[in-house]
Amino acid sequence: MKIIEKASQLRPLLSALREQGLSYGFVPTMGNLHAGHLALVDAAAEQCDRVVVSIFVNPLQFGPDEDLEAYPCTPEDDEKVLIEHGTSILYRPTMADVYPVGLEHQTRVEVPGLSEILCGSSRPGHFSGVATVVNRLFNQMQADKAFFGKKDYQQYLIIKKMVSDLAMNIEVVGVDTVRLDSGLAMSSRNSYLSASQLEQASGLYLVLQDAVERYRRTPENYRGIIEHGIAELKNRGFVPDYLTIRRQSDLKQPGAGDVKLVVLAAAWFGNARLIDNLEFVLPSRSLQSTI
Ligand code: PAJ
Repeated sequence: MKIIEKASQLRPLLSALREQGLSYGFVPTMGNLHAGHLALVDAAAEQCDRVVVSIFVNPLQFGPDEDLEAYPCTPEDDEKVLIEHGTSILYRPTMADVYPVGLEHQTRVEVPGLSEILCGSSRPGHFSGVATVVNRLFNQMQADKAFFGKKDYQQYLIIKKMVSDLAMNIEVVGVDTVRLDSGLAMSSRNSYLSASQLEQASGLYLVLQDAVERYRRTPENYRGIIEHGIAELKNRGFVPDYLTIRRQSDLKQPGAGDVKLVVLAAAWFGNARLIDNLEFVLPSRSLQSTI
């Protein structure tokens, strides 16, 4: 695995792959890698000839009171697991290489419609920071495909919309959420929790599952199901930010006839703001009428 810190060093390596006719997949991360990240690396290795991973803790996507300073950083462990999973290039750019003109003067990418809602409403500017850094990394990388976890469902949709709206020449692939046995979605922020808190935090997943079951039975009780889910989160020691059921395609409220849905939640547990979601599909109307 080659470790690169400058975009100028990246270019000849990537050109060499192209000259050999090799495709390559890109996995952007902020490091402190766990099995969730590695599922993206494995998917990239399956679908492309080579895998390029970036590690960059992007200050532009953290709010002033957020955990930028505390964000876990484990460079040696990250290198080791990336080698084990067959990564060809690790790109670990410095601030100057990602934001050469500084954060203030950086051109920003805004993805309206999807960015202000849900996590965007409690983290203003967050998704603009994500879209801006991913756009820059995509341009430096020129990869065939990029891999994103559906654990960050809103982020995944925002990147897909950015690629479509800006006619970017890259395919965005979504990868299913990797969970602990308890059901808790793996996350770097889980390291802010103690062992017993980690166990309790799996309640988030259980509440999402329960909301899906209730919605399947009585979709007309949308409001009641959401209220019940939020109360259940509070009972389990969470401080909920939101819990909602939306359309998979654009995170709008489901209307009659929408069958591809996703239940999403964000909630504080101890010092960690946890997010999770579950995709589900209702039987279509034609199917329902034959039951
Ligand atoms: P980070 O939180 O490091 O996550 C990098 C990628 O790993 C994202 O696509 C995320 O959805 C995916 N991921 C994290 N936990 C996962 C899990 N349990 N199962 C499946 N995939 C998981 O997301 C970011 O970094 C940043 O916003 C970034 C896109 C790198 C831009 O800075």
